[in-house]
Amino acid sequence: MKHAGAWNMLTAAVCMALLGCLQAREPQGHVSVILLGATGDLARKYLWQGLFQLYLEEAGKGHSFRFHGTALTSTEQGQEVIAKVLESLSCPRDTAPGRCAELRAQFRQLSEYRRLKTPEDYLALSKDIEARVQHEGLREAGRIFYFSVPPFAYAEIARSINSSCRPGPGAWLRVVLEKPFGRDHRSAQQLATELGSFFQEEEMYRVDHYLGKQVVAQILPFRDQNRKALDGLWNRHHVERVEIIMKETVDAAGRTSFYEEYGVIGDVLQNHLTEILMLVAMELPLNLSSSEAVLGHKLQAFRALRGLQRGSAVVGQYQAYRGQVRRERQKPDSFHSLTPTFAGVLVHIDNLRWEGVPFILMSGKALDERVGYVRILFKDQAYCAQSEKRWVPAQSHCLPQQIIFYIGHGELGGPAVLVSRNLFRPSLPSASWKEVEGQPGLRLFGRPLSDYYAYSPVREQDAYSILISRIFHRRKDSFITMENLLASWVFWTPLLDSLAHEVPRLYPGGAENGHLLDFEFSGSHLSFSQPPLEQLVLGPDSTPMPSDFQVLRARYRDSPLISAWPEELIARLAGDIEAAAVQAVRRFGKFHLALSGGSSPVALFQQLATGHYGFPWAHTHLWLVDERCVPLWDPESNFQGLQAHLLQHVRVPYYNVHPMPVHRRQRLCAEEDQGAQAYAEEISTLVTNSSFDLVLLGMGTDGHTASLFPQSPVGLDGKQLVVLTTSPSSPHRRMSLSLPVINRAHKVAVLVMGRMKREIAMLVSRVGREPRKWPISGVLPDSGQLVWYMDYDAFLG
Ligand code: BG6
Repeated sequence: MKHAGAWNMLTAAVCMALLGCLQAREPQGHVSVILLGATGDLARKYLWQGLFQLYLEEAGKGHSFRFHGTALTSTEQGQEVIAKVLESLSCPRDTAPGRCAELRAQFRQLSEYRRLKTPEDYLALSKDIEARVQHEGLREAGRIFYFSVPPFAYAEIARSINSSCRPGPGAWLRVVLEKPFGRDHRSAQQLATELGSFFQEEEMYRVDHYLGKQVVAQILPFRDQNRKALDGLWNRHHVERVEIIMKETVDAAGRTSFYEEYGVIGDVLQNHLTEILMLVAMELPLNLSSSEAVLGHKLQAFRALRGLQRGSAVVGQYQAYRGQVRRERQKPDSFHSLTPTFAGVLVHIDNLRWEGVPFILMSGKALDERVGYVRILFKDQAYCAQSEKRWVPAQSHCLPQQIIFYIGHGELGGPAVLVSRNLFRPSLPSASWKEVEGQPGLRLFGRPLSDYYAYSPVREQDAYSILISRIFHRRKDSFITMENLLASWVFWTPLLDSLAHEVPRLYPGGAENGHLLDFEFSGSHLSFSQPPLEQLVLGPDSTPMPSDFQVLRARYRDSPLISAWPEELIARLAGDIEAAAVQAVRRFGKFHLALSGGSSPVALFQQLATGHYGFPWAHTHLWLVDERCVPLWDPESNFQGLQAHLLQHVRVPYYNVHPMPVHRRQRLCAEEDQGAQAYAEEISTLVTNSSFDLVLLGMGTDGHTASLFPQSPVGLDGKQLVVLTTSPSSPHRRMSLSLPVINRAHKVAVLVMGRMKREIAMLVSRVGREPRKWPISGVLPDSGQLVWYMDYDAFLG
């Protein structure tokens, strides 16, 4: 009995296995591939080659094929183009030239061109396929329709296929779609619904050709095969940051109609870089061959992405772009474009694995080199007591530890996986990956190539060839499902909305970009490292019109000017203050910030209090630029404003807060109480050279700044750091930093907002240095930097 049971179980297992094998095997038969847009750029460059590859790999395995190139072009013209393309197809490296010519000829025999336009054309194609299958006594296995056409044509073609060109029962249909799949969440959803009315989700293969790049396709298998080494490392405790980069030297010339719609974010970040981000960040499924498990984990990672805000990105546009758009789209000379051709984005993932790890995504056209890579840089948690010359690359913990998925191009010239020798020796499938031969003198990411275990593919293959083969083998995990696509748009759409009116930084292109596009991050905020050279000013309407733009010399009184709408201006100023704080703390361990009172800075305080988690408050000293002679608890007191809008929301140590001593011995600003001298002493003691890191000033309608008023000589020169002054308006008595101490600061920011300031802003723009008439005109740091922050109301009126 026991044996009979075991026998039954064994039989069942064998049957199941056999059934599994039968199910997994593609039923053989005739396959028609219909390439729509067969004379276009993509088809000529990659798709025909990919189809030839498919033929070479599969034809000997029992399937028969026919390739139908189609387009709207006339039959003669189309045939001519295709004949040329087929002439130039290449064979695998080890194929003898004679054999290659033979294979090309066979493939040519199986390929045709036909014009495909009306539903009748589709019906005729379907009939031809059926007739051929019948005539040759074949069984139809399925049809692949490859859409290499612009997305506006999708719906019409889909309708025609669905109504007139579906294969009969028992044969499959696969439609292959190329991005862009929408321009934002709404349009992507709309397109998905539209296509969903013609095709089943399982019939659709949405291509992201980066998923076919050999190195990208290797990310999950690499993580899987090196689980043991990576398990403890692939997390926030060890990863310093991740960079996902795709730099290009080409520009958008010839494609500006497309590019104007999508920009670099829609063209590259939303798809290629996001897919790579997911492959790095997602939890690794136990079974990689399960498409469902991979997708499930990917969607989980999407859900953990922290929402992007305007401050999460920096954008740029190469200078020649605008002219190219004007020419290609016949726009007038006054036309301006806000489309970014460069973007750097800081992404955070709020889950236990990645909390706090910055993921930097960057791509751009007209940059200094063509290269793509993912770089995972590990934290350096070691100190090496020996001198550097004794460090051994394979052992030293003090050399950088990194894993690089080098997608292609760049110094290395091709795809590779690199792992620092001081991390671990990775395992890669030896049949398809080989060790890279040394290239003396080559350095990558700061280290000689010899510091890495480096592997490259045994046979380099183009992404499209790989993907076409995967479509044929129904490997859906290499394609973008609808859920995946919509999740990506959910993530990117708010950023695109918030950048809609952002003026991208102009860059010259190529090597001349210098450091103009370098950026820095702190907390969730990203900003260019260098101040802008020039600003474009955008008008008040939500839809920008060409006439809304003026190119302003972004200088005011010979110093840099930043001009924007109030909200944007405040965000920018807050970001700049934070950047200055981070830099000062990094270099000197503390940041001395002197703040003015009044109404203009309130919004700034609120912004700093809420949006700047990376601000080093614990190392910041807060000083007052001026104070009214009222008790500190009086609502008129500048300190009170600072307290209400900033101090109570952030953690500044109380001994780092320095209110002005206007209230001593129960008297207000009495000369003999020497409050000004006491404050000056405090400054001299704590602030090196009495040079504040940053002084924030305003400008009054009479040209006063701090509490230095026109026609009153106090505090405009001399040695005093702090002075008592008299204001024309109540409360009249004031305490103020003097002009000399203001001008000693490393940075001075002057914030000017509101239409009321328009007149004085105009006047001051023209006058020389006459602090007695206009104290603000005396502000010019001795060796520091002055930046004006003016909103459009103040600047343009
Ligand atoms: C495409 C983008 O998806 O990828 C192009 O539309 C970009 O703008 C291209 O140039 C880059 O692909 P590759 O394979 O050359 O890195």
